[in-house]
Amino acid sequence: MKVTISLIKADIGSIGGHIMPSSGLMERVKEVVRKQGKGMVIDSYIGHTGDDIAILMTHTLGEDSEKIHKLAFDAFMEGTQVAKKQGLYGAGQDLLKDSFSGNVKGMGPAVAEMEIEERPNEPFLAFAADKTDPGAYNLPFYLSFADPMYCSGLILSPKVGKGYTFHIMDVEYTEGDKVVELSAPEDLYDIAALLRDQERYVIEKVYSRDTGDVALSISTTRLHNIAGKYTGKDDPVALVRVQGNFPATGEIISPFAIGHYVAGFMRGSHNGPLMPVKKNSPISYFDGPPVVNCLAFCVKEGVLTEAADVFDHPFWDYVRDNVSRKSEELRRQGFFGPAMLPFSELEYGGIVERLKNLEGRFSVRKE
Ligand code: F6R
Ligand code: MG
Ligand code: MG
Repeated sequence: MKVTISLIKADIGSIGGHIMPSSGLMERVKEVVRKQGKGMVIDSYIGHTGDDIAILMTHTLGEDSEKIHKLAFDAFMEGTQVAKKQGLYGAGQDLLKDSFSGNVKGMGPAVAEMEIEERPNEPFLAFAADKTDPGAYNLPFYLSFADPMYCSGLILSPKVGKGYTFHIMDVEYTEGDKVVELSAPEDLYDIAALLRDQERYVIEKVYSRDTGDVALSISTTRLHNIAGKYTGKDDPVALVRVQGNFPATGEIISPFAIGHYVAGFMRGSHNGPLMPVKKNSPISYFDGPPVVNCLAFCVKEGVLTEAADVFDHPFWDYVRDNVSRKSEELRRQGFFGPAMLPFSELEYGGIVERLKNLEGRFSVRKE
């Protein structure tokens, strides 16, 4: 059976700053999806990562379905009403427009979708990250789809060993979708050369070279490119099919043990290590650290199993301790050097004004 999996996420208000949504807000979003999605959505799961609510839906309407996107938009709009009533901070933060225009992409929410021909058993992973942007996924998914040091299947499994094709988007380009297709292993160095620049080039999709099937889909929205000003970091979601022709679940998640440094954290303007967290985790230290959670599902004719919480395991407690240490180590140098993002990536305009004001106070010394 052909099924589409849609994962759509937005920050529409949060308790006590940018910490987590209220249960009333979560309930309202769930209710709208359940009621308005009747007869259209086969199954759904709603959870939060930091201050973002993610709606996972299965249906048969394909990617970019106006009906599905409108349902998510309506659920976030209705949720915003609750957020406003409760006085939640940043109510409706990620909804950049108040009327729906056909596709929720470009309106603020992050969207990852894949239309798949279900295998007899279809395991997949849903990732959601907060206090960071889509480039945060560049390193881990490069490693799990292209590097045998992390994905042993690339040398041990003939199917996985056929390699993968990466669709990489230039997200600085705002006139349309500017994408390049590169295949591992032969284009490995070109893939690496692009993905190292994670604020500009991000993975959009990955396909199996054995079957041509989609393996990975990542939201590529850059809110600051859409809005022209800071509205919040882009807090990306991703869907990954696993096992068989694809890397195993363990191979997909193994690079997340690095706790690599990503852009985001406080005011979307710092670097910090990405911490793999349990489902429905809040935000804390220095409005961070940047977090990612991963839920594993199986889907049969669109019906989802319960979610298995992949980072809820003693191994990841050890990783979280390491990430906390890395986080604190970099934070000790405050705004200095790599601790704060370069000028072009700062999400607040304050420093621009400050430098403009200072410019007038400079003078060029005469000999
Ligand atoms: C980052 C984030 C927070 C805010 C910070 C200041 O994604 O949401 O770090 O940038 O708490 O928020 P405002 O400017 O809303 O007071
Ligand atoms: Mg927020
Ligand atoms: Mg967020």
